[in-house]
Amino acid sequence: MSTAELIEVKPEAEFEDGDRELVEVNGAQVGVLRVDGEFYAVRNRCLHDCGPVASGKVGRKLVGEFVEPGKRVEKDYADDEKIISCPWHGWSYDLETGEQLADDDIVLPTYDVVLEDGVVYVDGQRS
Ligand code: FES
Repeated sequence: MSTAELIEVKPEAEFEDGDRELVEVNGAQVGVLRVDGEFYAVRNRCLHDCGPVASGKVGRKLVGEFVEPGKRVEKDYADDEKIISCPWHGWSYDLETGEQLADDDIVLPTYDVVLEDGVVYVDGQRS
């Protein structure tokens, strides 16, 4: 694999679960997070009012069955779907896809994270 488009973050061995790092990718600040062993990378600029969304709280996505709009009959929190909530006003995004939870037409840019020779990189081409 060519490393021309890869931006180095740091060695995987030093990137502990719960850690976050900020890197610059093509002029944009990107937050790289390790959550439950998985790596995620999101642009650190909230689509609401430009807040530092990558520093927000990470949680599990609420999922459920609806019988009609607004009426949930079953609910649970997905183990494998994570969200991040902007610390300024709480807009929440799917960490993997960047979709804003209340409106999936609003999509926070996300990036692929690549592990190569024990080093964590962000792929500068958006996922
Ligand atoms: S700036 Fe992120 S929710 Fe307002």
